[in-house]
Parts: sequence; structure tokens; C-alpha cells
Amino acid sequence: MHKVIFDTDPGVDDAIALYFALAHPSIEVLGITTTFGNVHVHQAAANALYLTRLAGHRIPVTQGIASPWVQPPGTPPAFIHGDDGLGNLPRRLPCPDALDPRPSAQFIVDTVRAHPHEVSLVAVGPLGNLALALKLAPDIASLVRQVIVMGGAALEPGNVSPVAEANIWNDPHAADIVFGAGWPITMVGLDVTHQVVTELVLFEQLAQLHRHPATDTLLHAVQFYCQFYSGLHKHRFATPGCFAHDLLAFMVLVQPDWFGTESGVVRVVTEGIAKGQTVLRRRDFVDYPQSGWETQRPRTLVCMEVDAQACVDLFVQTLARPWMR
Ligand code: RIB
Ligand code: CA
Repeated sequence: MHKVIFDTDPGVDDAIALYFALAHPSIEVLGITTTFGNVHVHQAAANALYLTRLAGHRIPVTQGIASPWVQPPGTPPAFIHGDDGLGNLPRRLPCPDALDPRPSAQFIVDTVRAHPHEVSLVAVGPLGNLALALKLAPDIASLVRQVIVMGGAALEPGNVSPVAEANIWNDPHAADIVFGAGWPITMVGLDVTHQVVTELVLFEQLAQLHRHPATDTLLHAVQFYCQFYSGLHKHRFATPGCFAHDLLAFMVLVQPDWFGTESGVVRVVTEGIAKGQTVLRRRDFVDYPQSGWETQRPRTLVCMEVDAQACVDLFVQTLARPWMR
């Protein structure tokens, strides 16, 4: 079993990833920590709690960091995920459960210390909760099993600027701390997430199969999200579909062999026109004179290639299981 803390800003693709994690027989979600990003953090926490309970799973959900490490807060992208982060749901069923009262960073510290060398942090939003957890308890860097980050781009163009991916751009200072922490870390960025398309018809088929409020809600959210992606990437989508970015972080967790990787130092540009760019040092044999690029700095495993069809097939097979309680 993979014991996981899921750090997330739901968000439609976050919801897809969450339901994959809940449905996969080898993933045990110990807790969900939330951050600002696709929505404000209180909405992210409410969405995580709602999605989880709707599917009948009782997992601790915490509210985390509300704004970036250094830069001023931005405006959530309602045009991608809806005002509520889930494609503007017309109504919600009652959800009487409460959040776990701990701040997300404290939950991460407590849980990693309770399960030394067992916990994978799967982070698919801006990285402030992980940076704060490191600040509270630097020892967790040597106690986690691994960190998997959906964010960044090594060679692929960005999605909020020509060089920056959204999660990293939203909090570049936190991201640079996380990539430099010295824990085993894998970057699942646009280099691979832009290779994997999940078509709307798959979500329609899953909703039809289960006839359950959880998969109905997911379908509603994905319909909204697909309008954005199918409009933006007309050349990529023959039929309505989307990039399910955050899902790929869990694919790396359970099927790392499906990914081609490079290992190197990753630094994050924190200001200026290239803010949020993740720069991968690809040539260790060059002795760069600029400081900050020393070869002995912590390295990141960066995903560059992916077996896209295998990922889509596993997603569908997993969500087709009887996973809702
Ligand atoms: O760039 C993709 C990432 O930004 C995903 O995590 C998505 O949820 C959005 O926040
Ligand atoms: Ca996300």
C-alpha cells in the first residue's frame, strides 16, 4: 500500500485525481491538505471534504495556507474551474462533517512523524503547505518516503506564461524551497501532463455505470473544465476533453515505470518576466560560474515522457471499480 497525504486545491483535475486515489486499491489516503490556488483555501477545503464524503470516504481534511509565501495573493481562475472550483455545481447535498482543526502544515508534520519513511506527499497545488511543514519541522525531509509534485515545466511551454506552469507561478518562493529541501522528489510537469488527454466521454460512461452523486458531480465539473481546454487547444482535442494534470501525480506513484525521467537540480525563478519558471540543470559536466547551480544541490527526478494510453486505461479501469462506500 502507498500511504499518501494529498495536498490539493480542488479544482476539477484535483477532483479527478482525488477520486482516482480513493478508487485505487493500492493507495491509502491518510489525509487531504488544502491550499489556495484554483479557488480560495476555504473553498478548497470545503470541496475536498464534500467530494470525499459524497463518495462515502471518511478521511481527515484540513485547511492550509491561504496566500503565497512572499508575493501578494492573486485571483482564482474561475474561467477554468468555475467560481466554486467544481464547474459551478447547481446544488450540493448536505455535508455535516467538519474539517480536522489542525492547519495543513501541522497535519503533514504529525502524520509524517507518525509513519516514518512510509508517507508519500502528493502535491498538486501551490506548494506553501509543504514549505511551511519543512519550516515547522525540518526533520520531515528525511522522514518522508517521497514527494511527488504536479507542477512546473522543463521543456514544454508554460500555461500561465510562456515559461511558467500555474502551481509554481502561484507561489514560486515556496516551490524553490520544496525543490531544494533534499527529500526524494519527482516533478510531474507539463512535459508529461500535456501528453495525456482524458476525453469527456469517459466521464459520461463512468457516470452512467455508477449512477452515483459522486460520479455525477465529477461529470458536471469535467464538462465545465473541458469547455476551457477544448476551446484553448482546438488542435489537440478532436472530441471534448481535458488535460487531467493532477491525475498524473498518482500515476507516477503507482506506475513509475510508465514515465521517462531525467535527474538534475531544479531551481525556480521567483520574480520578473520569467516568474514561476522551473529551470532544470541538464548538463552536470559544465562548471557554471553562477552560484545557485552547484551540482551537489538536491536533485529532482523530472518526468519527460509518459505512456499516455496506459495512464488513460488505468484511470478508467480504476474508476469503474466499486470504490464508493
Ligand atoms: O497547471 C496545472 C495545475 O494548475 C493543476 O494542478 C491544476 O489543478 C491547476 O491548478
Ligand atoms: Ca491542482
